[in-house]
Amino acid sequence: MRGVVLAGGLGTRLGAVTRIVNKHLLPVYDKPMIYYPIQALVNAGIRDILIVTGGRNAGDFLRLLGNGREFGLQHIDYTYQEGEGGIAEALGLAEHVAQGQKICVILGDNIIERNIIQAVDDFRKQERGAKILLKKVHDPERFGVPELDGDSIVRIEEKPKQPKSPYAVTGIYMFDETVFEKIHRLSRSDRGELEITDVNNQYIQEGTMTWAELQGWWTDAGTIDSLRRATNLVAETGANLID
Ligand code: DAU
Repeated sequence: MRGVVLAGGLGTRLGAVTRIVNKHLLPVYDKPMIYYPIQALVNAGIRDILIVTGGRNAGDFLRLLGNGREFGLQHIDYTYQEGEGGIAEALGLAEHVAQGQKICVILGDNIIERNIIQAVDDFRKQERGAKILLKKVHDPERFGVPELDGDSIVRIEEKPKQPKSPYAVTGIYMFDETVFEKIHRLSRSDRGELEITDVNNQYIQEGTMTWAELQGWWTDAGTIDSLRRATNLVAETGANLID
């Protein structure tokens, strides 16, 4: 399975902090933010990764990560997203490197405490479709939120004012090769983006979406408050723990 780290977009919610430095290169405790999602994929047994970057200083990613040897990667590719057309748009750039394989996608500002290898192995065995990881949070309205009927997801709403469950859809997504046809079918949302939530809803409608609850803490780091939270969590317990 190939890994994809989405680190495009312009990080405008961080204001002057990202005027010069790309959001995913900011420090989270003792490492640049993008180290955490890369390590999460490596810990799940993925050694072949595509990094999607964007913005004005994309060359910094190459200077920082080089050929990926530091992480034990066998292969690293880079591509560039122009503008900020959404997570699904950024993922669309992975089509040529996925070459019909399943992919495990992680957002470049998502940081986790524990290993996701169990979910990734379960998805390796899943015949087709997609798998997402959910996490109970106190502020679901900031995220994609699933509406659940028993154990099944009925649909996902992006940043709903009235969330239908206390879960967030985390930025870790596993997809089969049909994800790219699904991206081609999307149209832009009110905020002008190709939404990953609309991709996930297509899998839900087709009845091939599975999910698991993410173990350990999870946070994004895309706002000043969540960046501080991420730094504190990493400092207190460490991230990407193996067991
Ligand atoms: O963190 C999980 C949440 O991420 C999900 O619950 C939401 O359903 C999903 O839409 C997303 O929400 P955000 O509004 O927090 O996403 P944001 O625009 O902050 O982008 C998160 C990362 O995705 C960002 O660090 C890099 C990547 N991205 C984003 C955009 C908009 C790209 O690579 N390209 C883009 O155009």
